[in-house]
Amino acid sequence: MVNHDRVTKAVIPAAGLGTRFLPATKAMPKEMLPVVDKPAIQYVVEEAVDAGLHDVLMVTGRNKNALENHFDRNAELEDALTKKGDTARLQKVNYSSVLADMHYVRQGDPMGLGHAVLRAQMHVGREPFAVLLGDDIIDARDDLLKRMLTVQAQRHTSVVALLEVPPESIHLYGAAAVEPTDEDDVVRITGLVEKPDAEHAPSNYAVIGRYILRPEVFDVLERTKPGRGGEIQLTDALQSMAEAPDWTGGVYGVVFRGRRYDTGDRLDYIKAIVQLAVDREDLGPELRPWLREFAAELDDKPGEIVEEMPADPTGPISTIRVEDH
Ligand code: G1P
Repeated sequence: MVNHDRVTKAVIPAAGLGTRFLPATKAMPKEMLPVVDKPAIQYVVEEAVDAGLHDVLMVTGRNKNALENHFDRNAELEDALTKKGDTARLQKVNYSSVLADMHYVRQGDPMGLGHAVLRAQMHVGREPFAVLLGDDIIDARDDLLKRMLTVQAQRHTSVVALLEVPPESIHLYGAAAVEPTDEDDVVRITGLVEKPDAEHAPSNYAVIGRYILRPEVFDVLERTKPGRGGEIQLTDALQSMAEAPDWTGGVYGVVFRGRRYDTGDRLDYIKAIVQLAVDREDLGPELRPWLREFAAELDDKPGEIVEEMPADPTGPISTIRVEDH
């Protein structure tokens, strides 16, 4: 029996290797990279809690300690801040440890997003649940998850978040074939393809990292064969669900027109920090005029190119060693 009750659980896959951010992510999960002054993952947990999902399961991989520690108490730090009377910072430190009811499960072999979601089966049981991907930050001023929960409650289907992207970017996402409904921001999904070429994409509607899934997804994922990149793709499972609405409930999309930041890509990560910081009351007033000046100067500067890495990384190191001795 499917439990159509209120969604209460959020699942956050956080087992990726973060190779795009090496060496920063050599010893630290990419989810801990700061966006202004909070780790990226905290924005995502806050979004879940804000939508009423207090039970958060993180599917982790190697280096999970930093994640667990961030959402736990830090007695030593709390003592030091208490002694200093620094209540503002004490509050910030405490906040992440009381934010949600956190749970963790290990993914083991990283065999794809579908595999990560399958690892949540024991914890979730036979209830609909949310999946939030850590690379996507949705601006707290724009509702997405709450809207998706409303649509899920009305239609009892699985619901994914869609964003219209330029055709040249669709190969980075799951792409959806859609049909309109009687609601302007809701579409029925008739098919899904993981990261198609622009010419094979069914539309410009990209799946962004928010999903409300019916528990039938676990049954489908168990039978889903490795797809693109040899990984078990959530998109492939959703495609099967869209094709079999009789027993899976089908899949609908909520078209998001608000602010979304991609922290999974280095350039977009830099943009996200700037975009979020200019609106912060503590940083914006100084950052805005500085940015204007900086941007104006860029127009006059030819630009000095700095190499990403020395061509021969052993060169400078051995030189330093020689000089040290
Ligand atoms: C994943 C999903 C993809 C989705 C994207 C959203 O891809 O597989 O369908 O569009 O997240 O961010 P990833 O970016 O993890 O490769």
